[in-house]
Amino acid sequence: MHGNCIYHSHKEINFVMLTFTLLVVLFASPSWAALPQFSWDTLPVFFHSSNTTGIYNDDALKTIAKFKMATIEKWMGYDMKNIDDEDEMVLAMRAIKAANPKIATYFYMNSFKDRPEMTRMARELSENPSYYLRDSDGTRVKNGGGFYAFDLSNPDVRQWWLNICLNATKFANGDGCFCDSSQRENSSFRPKPLAEKLKNWGEGMLNLTRDVQEALGENKLLIGKYPGQPYVKAVQIESFEPTNDSIVSLMLGASHGQVVQAHVPISIECSSDLTNYLATFLIGAGQYSYFGCGNWNATGNDTRPLTWLPEYDKPLGPPKSTGVYNSQTGVWSRLFASGTDVLFDTKTNKGTIKWSQ
Ligand SMILES: *[C@@H]1O[C@H](CO)[C@@H](O)[C@H](O)[C@H]1NC(C)=O
Ligand SMILES: *[C@@H]1O[C@H](CO)[C@@H](O)[C@H](O)[C@H]1NC(C)=O
Ligand SMILES: *[C@@H]1O[C@H](CO)[C@@H](O)[C@H](O)[C@H]1NC(C)=O
Ligand SMILES: *[C@@H]1O[C@H](CO)[C@@H](O)[C@H](O)[C@H]1NC(C)=O
Ligand SMILES: *[C@@H]1O[C@H](CO)[C@@H](O)[C@H](O)[C@H]1NC(C)=O
Ligand SMILES: *[C@@H]1O[C@H](CO)[C@@H](O)[C@H](O)[C@H]1NC(C)=O
Ligand SMILES: *[C@@H]1O[C@H](CO)[C@@H](O)[C@H](O)[C@H]1NC(C)=O
Repeated sequence: MHGNCIYHSHKEINFVMLTFTLLVVLFASPSWAALPQFSWDTLPVFFHSSNTTGIYNDDALKTIAKFKMATIEKWMGYDMKNIDDEDEMVLAMRAIKAANPKIATYFYMNSFKDRPEMTRMARELSENPSYYLRDSDGTRVKNGGGFYAFDLSNPDVRQWWLNICLNATKFANGDGCFCDSSQRENSSFRPKPLAEKLKNWGEGMLNLTRDVQEALGENKLLIGKYPGQPYVKAVQIESFEPTNDSIVSLMLGASHGQVVQAHVPISIECSSDLTNYLATFLIGAGQYSYFGCGNWNATGNDTRPLTWLPEYDKPLGPPKSTGVYNSQTGVWSRLFASGTDVLFDTKTNKGTIKWSQ
């Protein structure tokens, strides 16, 4: 019987080797880790925060590794003065991948604000006078928050931004970038640039998101800011409230085929009762929708952004249908395969979840 194994014809061996090679290509190519994992087995959850003091400790990394996606925010390592924040962010992303190679990791970037937390970007901007948005007198323009704005109508600025995202993604072995403040909001700019400049700036923002998502490719994500946002394959709803509007917004992102991150407002303690938020999410969630809670930064051994709720481990199963709205009562309902039953009342903005046992 051994003979059958030993005396393969060359053709057979080539076939076996070809099949093996194909399997290796299919299952071992890096693309498998790029799109975030998704399953209805339990609530799909994402992490988005930073540790201003430095790299997370092992316990923290173990917790972060349980989420399907993790974005490292700009305050990572902000209290460390001898290293650029961008490098500390990349190190944190690497540490998370080492804790769980299957988690998808993302590098925070702001689409147009000169944020001092991004220390290398802030330095490079100051070395390139033509990168600043300016009014007709040449005065540099600030937004309402007091941050200088990048001139996104300048193709060199967009190329600079794109290179930083791709470089960080490469060094972190990461899965894309977050693109904060990409709503094209221009009303707070002071001094006011000419209308023509603002128009080109808005178009430049669109071109930036288009070109960066394209450069990242099919399986990596640029995470934008509102469901239905053009070009980006993913979006975050930064303040996901228990309201009808949030349900409609979440469904809109899902209907565009976008990965959607629904984030509880940072004013809410994650250890408090989040039932209303969870019910809102469960009514609207689609394939590749994720729930998240926690402030954008913490200092020292503060673990609040790492809160792992008991609800994250409860059985869910695929939904039996999309959320069903009863216009008579104003109540949304949805049933999941495990028997978990969710209601959301738009008259009171309260939700109830009967978890299956
Ligand atoms: C934050 O970083 C510091 C320095 O590495 C570390 O001592 C602390 O434990 C970290 N906090 C968490 C929650 O991991
Ligand atoms: C690319 O990222 C690595 C790791 O953070 C950093 O050391 C390097 O300086 C970056 N390169 C550029 C051109 O910014
Ligand atoms: C945006 O991209 C389009 C198409 O590639 C180009 O024609 C246009 O000039 C770009 N806009 C700006 C402001 O650079
Ligand atoms: C400024 O932003 C507003 C709101 O997004 C937009 O309607 C308007 O067209 C923008 N202004 C210019 C000159 O593009
Ligand atoms: C909630 O959203 C649904 C779907 O868009 C809409 O039909 C309904 O009128 C909304 N209900 C309330 C109370 O706004
Ligand atoms: C943490 O983030 C908040 C905004 O959420 C910011 O106001 C604050 O300055 C940050 N704190 C530190 C220590 O970086
Ligand atoms: C976090 O706690 C550990 C263990 O108690 C301690 O060694 C470390 O210095 C703490 N880190 C910070 C930044 O407070």
